[in-house]
Amino acid sequence: MTDRYAVIGNPIVQSKSPLIHSAFAQVTGQDIDYGKLLGPLGEFAATVDAFRAAGGRGMNVTAPFKLDAFAYATDLAPSAQMAGAVNAMKFEGDRVYVENFDGVGLVRDVLHNLGCPLQGRRVLILGAGGATRGALLPLLVEQPAELVIVNRTVAKAQELAALAQQHQTGQVPVSGLSYDAVQGAFDVVFNATSSSLTAELPPLPGSVFAPGCLAYDLTYGKGLTPFLQLAQQAGVNRLADGVGMLAEQAAEAFAWWRGVRPDTAAVIAQLTVPLV
Ligand code: ATR
Repeated sequence: MTDRYAVIGNPIVQSKSPLIHSAFAQVTGQDIDYGKLLGPLGEFAATVDAFRAAGGRGMNVTAPFKLDAFAYATDLAPSAQMAGAVNAMKFEGDRVYVENFDGVGLVRDVLHNLGCPLQGRRVLILGAGGATRGALLPLLVEQPAELVIVNRTVAKAQELAALAQQHQTGQVPVSGLSYDAVQGAFDVVFNATSSSLTAELPPLPGSVFAPGCLAYDLTYGKGLTPFLQLAQQAGVNRLADGVGMLAEQAAEAFAWWRGVRPDTAAVIAQLTVPLV
């Protein structure tokens, strides 16, 4: 019997999840149907209830429902707890298991697809919103030499740094700074702000990029964003956007639902938008 899955959001036309999961189902031989569900605002729970009643097995969750899904869950994974948001749900009887795979997806992309180890490296992450929250613990597991969070609103960066210090098992120094307080050069710089969605540039000095640095914009499909342009002008030649993260977080969810992890290379190749 075909098992049903869907991504829920509002709007939802833009979602690449059905394309990605259908490709995964094809290569792994899994019999699933993965659709798009436009969730009426304020009716998240009723919409998901109806989907489950019709036999739905799991869902991805996108804006603006990531917090509604948090409230709907019966069993929260640590990844969702730390991120304060949910991007995948699994339904088993009365139970609603929830996860947030964005952070592990990011780290998998950096390590396995881009071949850039994080252990012992100086890592800078721009922004202190949901994207950074989700990435913190998976980044710290890799034992970088240092993790610096920089944000316009410095209090939010400091808050996240304190939270990360509390939850990590290792001894990685984590700090929260304002842009004008950032010093030295970093081996990996992530842009986890929403600045690329509005083609804005975070107020970052070009000197933060160390020779051989990887500059990674978590935004997907915006080409050479102002952040990536800044990195390029500073001499960085390893530039990446979030296409690999998108595919890897989907692969994590697929493996969680179906027990088989699909290879992501074909999906990444299909969705890649050139960085020009
Ligand atoms: P998300 O869930 O995508 O992370 P969010 O929680 O709204 O979205 O957080 C957006 C982040 O991008 C914040 O860290 C925000 O900085 P402030 O907390 O100071 O507002 C950051 N951001 C948005 N536009 C930015 C810009 N033009 N320059 C620098 N930071 C920006």
